[in-house]
Amino acid sequence: MNEKILITSALLYGNGPLHFGHMAGSYLPAECYARFMRFTGHEVLFLSGLDEYGAAITLSAEKEKQSPQAHVDHYYKEAIKDFERFDFSFDHFSRTTWPRHKEAVVEFFQDLASQSYVEKVVTKQLYSEKDKKFLADRYVQGICPKCKYQEARGDECPKCGASFEANELIEPKSKLTKSSLTLKETEHFFLKLDLFKEQLKEWLSQKKWKPQVLNMAKQYVEDARPRCITRDLNWGIPVPNEEGKVFYVWFDAPIGYISAAKDWAEKNNDPNAWEKFWLDPKTKYVQFVGKDNIPFHSVFFPAMVMGQKRAYKQVDELPANAFFHYEGKKFSKSEGWFIELDDFFKSYSSDQIRYCLAANAPEQDDSEFSWKDFQSRNNAELVGKFGNFINRTLVFIAQRAEGKIPELKDSTVRDKKFLEDIQVLTDKIKEAHFSFHLRKSTQLIMELATCCNVYFDELKPWQLAKEDVERMKAVLAHCLVGIKALSVAAYAIIPKAANKIWNMIGFDDHLTSASFDERLKMPLNAGSPINKPEILFQKIEDKQVQKELDKLKCSQSKDDDSMIDFDSFSKVDLRVAEVLQAEQLPKSQKLLRIELDVGGERRVVVSGIKEHYNPEDLLGKKVILVANLKPAKIMGIESQGMILAASDGKMLEMPLIENLPSGSRVS
Ligand code: 2FM
Ligand code: ZN
Repeated sequence: MNEKILITSALLYGNGPLHFGHMAGSYLPAECYARFMRFTGHEVLFLSGLDEYGAAITLSAEKEKQSPQAHVDHYYKEAIKDFERFDFSFDHFSRTTWPRHKEAVVEFFQDLASQSYVEKVVTKQLYSEKDKKFLADRYVQGICPKCKYQEARGDECPKCGASFEANELIEPKSKLTKSSLTLKETEHFFLKLDLFKEQLKEWLSQKKWKPQVLNMAKQYVEDARPRCITRDLNWGIPVPNEEGKVFYVWFDAPIGYISAAKDWAEKNNDPNAWEKFWLDPKTKYVQFVGKDNIPFHSVFFPAMVMGQKRAYKQVDELPANAFFHYEGKKFSKSEGWFIELDDFFKSYSSDQIRYCLAANAPEQDDSEFSWKDFQSRNNAELVGKFGNFINRTLVFIAQRAEGKIPELKDSTVRDKKFLEDIQVLTDKIKEAHFSFHLRKSTQLIMELATCCNVYFDELKPWQLAKEDVERMKAVLAHCLVGIKALSVAAYAIIPKAANKIWNMIGFDDHLTSASFDERLKMPLNAGSPINKPEILFQKIEDKQVQKELDKLKCSQSKDDDSMIDFDSFSKVDLRVAEVLQAEQLPKSQKLLRIELDVGGERRVVVSGIKEHYNPEDLLGKKVILVANLKPAKIMGIESQGMILAASDGKMLEMPLIENLPSGSRVS
């Protein structure tokens, strides 16, 4: 039965270029699924867009000395260009700074408010005395309260995926100035997530999602409590009637899936068309996201939808993927651990990379792109198995069968077995796509290519050419059925090559002018000419791979923002300092007041080491002091420097100097 299928990919943050990590995680799986579903006759609406608000954008715009608007305008153009290069088939790629999105968000909020699902609460938020403002969570960093990861962000932990309020972080600091923060009262709106707890539990209990997705969702529901949905920021969708407050980006972004559908409908001059996807309970809604987005898509947004007066579709399938790295590390433009797509597409085709990313999609665990794997997937699989069978068959037909399609006749037991194997494998490929097993479908495509090659090798048409030309032609006709199946089966993943193959075997329409099943059943036109066989995939040579790896090394040393030169380092005045006095600060659990001698000069430092050292044990110890740090007031005391200490989040240890006198320089 044909269904209406709404497919969305997580909105892309408008603060950086698209990379293979995004691609393999939440975009390519959605793209292949969308193509496959259309090809199997379903009515598909495939949407995504740019996520343009929030502190992630302002932070990155500030870094590039651009206004947030100019910043996202730039990345919108880039995203459109990049998705085209990957041959994406979005029906629409939207933007959250477009007006329809703002309307949709305000409507969502007002609907929730009118049913008392939001409340205004006086809350304590992290305030920076130094910046004289409340800091939005992305401007805060600290230690993850769950896994103790040192560099957790103010809204979530990139390591364990936990999401929380910024003030739950241990030792929160300003990301900009690294100054410590205090809690101060301010008013914010909260979504009363706890009111949806039972409904969410019941709804989730019916889902047959991957265990890792369900487990994360269930944990988050258990922990359901009111969540702050507004921020003190000047970049975002303004909260109606509230000065200086905008909606939290995770409140506005998922509504982007609805406003994208509205924009799509408007673009097609059928303004209500979005409703037939979003408001029809029979629509099947599939959201493709990365694992860090699971809580927002499985709990937070579903609760927002539950609190609407209109019956919007809830997500039906959430095939969230794990992370995808590059040669063992996270993709990072700023660290030079990155592939420039302009360069990439000069040397390789979209089909080559689509196949490689699909074959490595991080469906269960994290996975990665490596140049060696790319080379071997391309050379051994696309060129060696898939392309080789198509090429050898078509070249043979051109040379030995007058370039015409032979008649499919006199099938032997072996031929019938071959046709059955094709049927079984294409059925399995279909099933793999339906059940979101993209990796599996690439494996099955290669199994199909192997099955075709084995048939060719076993039946030896080159020998039959000498012994029995009619039989040779019949064998080639069976091989053509194999080629047709390869074209149909591979379409969703490598659409350009698939259509080329389709045309090479004598069809002049587009492969997708009829459905997957119809194409498989359709006979070839016996007697009509095949077209000139073209090489589908170029081999990747070892020296090319080496060049790419060298480029990576080189760009890493050039672009790495986190590297400093020697001059910058030498500005830090590190000195040996002897502890003269150390005492507890009565109101603090973490801080000690320490008096030091630095080569005859007396300094007072407030240091957060109380949980790890007894003051009396420190007397006479020689520590390392950052002596030229600007003084800062901590708990009313002027701290004149900082003592160096190493920590893994649990333990803390100070490097101690044994013999050198205080005042000695450390370098
Ligand atoms: O994590 C991200 O990249 C977010 N920009 C995803 C947003 S998905 C949605 F809710 F819009
Ligand atoms: Zn964590």
